[in-house]
Amino acid sequence: MFQGRSLLKEVDFTPAELEYLIDFSIHLKDLKKRNIPHEYLKGQNICLLFEKSSTRTRSAFTVACNDLGAYPEFMGAGDIQLGKKESVEDSAKVFGSMFDGIEFRGFSQEHVEALAKYSGVPVWNGLTDAWHPTQMIADFMTIKEEFGKLKGLKLVYCGDGRNNMANSLVVTGSMLGVSVTIASPEELFPEQSVIDYAEKFAKESGSTVTVTSDIKSAVKDADILYTDVWVSMGEEDKFEERIKLLKPYQINKELTDLIENENYIFLHCLPAFHDTETKYGAEMAERFGVKEMEVTDEVFRDEKHARQFEEAENRMHSIKAIMAATNGNLFIPRV
Ligand code: CP
Repeated sequence: MFQGRSLLKEVDFTPAELEYLIDFSIHLKDLKKRNIPHEYLKGQNICLLFEKSSTRTRSAFTVACNDLGAYPEFMGAGDIQLGKKESVEDSAKVFGSMFDGIEFRGFSQEHVEALAKYSGVPVWNGLTDAWHPTQMIADFMTIKEEFGKLKGLKLVYCGDGRNNMANSLVVTGSMLGVSVTIASPEELFPEQSVIDYAEKFAKESGSTVTVTSDIKSAVKDADILYTDVWVSMGEEDKFEERIKLLKPYQINKELTDLIENENYIFLHCLPAFHDTETKYGAEMAERFGVKEMEVTDEVFRDEKHARQFEEAENRMHSIKAIMAATNGNLFIPRV
């Protein structure tokens, strides 16, 4: 039963339910490509709360709402009182009395949990410092589209092993039978509680969880190579220390040449620092002589393997599936 449920973190759903959402996303993508209407949220009003900036998540929720026949209302950090001049509980009660569903992107996982607890409507986590669950449906959808399956594949995440993307990938992969290796410097290894969580699921799905600082050995049998920015939102004062720590974990041609599967894919949740065409990219080049950070421009533009823009498009199809399944009063057979 999906109706009325919130997606606050991946483990709110069972592995079978996550896989259902992935397959439903692929189905909705097909409907969209064939111009077949799917207005499962017709007449609904959806609240889009963004404490942090966004390109993909905001665009995906907005377009998905429109395609589903719902009206999206965007509220940015400057528009809302959440936790500053009004408690999250009080704001949640107000939003819940007017809106049919709420997307929240912000810092605190406690805030998104409180929104769900007190609003009485489905809440979808569009990223917190802890988890990025809507991204996961898009990522594993992209992997399934590419390989036709999930179980038995190996994903290697290179970079900051403690951020929300590393947390979400290792837990979701373990739930879905994808073996996940986190390759990062020891200083940035994931929290043990996240690994314990993932290992519990890995045991059930037959996958493995590995944390290592040996990136060269880690990537050899990779099917999916994944990275994220070295400095997450809110950590902009940490560029210097992260560049020093993570330069050996950059995804570049020397590294990808070690991968044995010639059909491996590269994924990145984006935005990416692969050149100096951004304010931060140009500044880091000037200050530290680093023109490319987590991925080189060559790898980023390698059309045989790079799938980050398909992944970005899939944010929209998958967010649509999440909203429709949890708020569209659809008949969904037990999964
Ligand atoms: N991947 C992702 O969440 O992108 P945005 O920050 O642009 O929403």
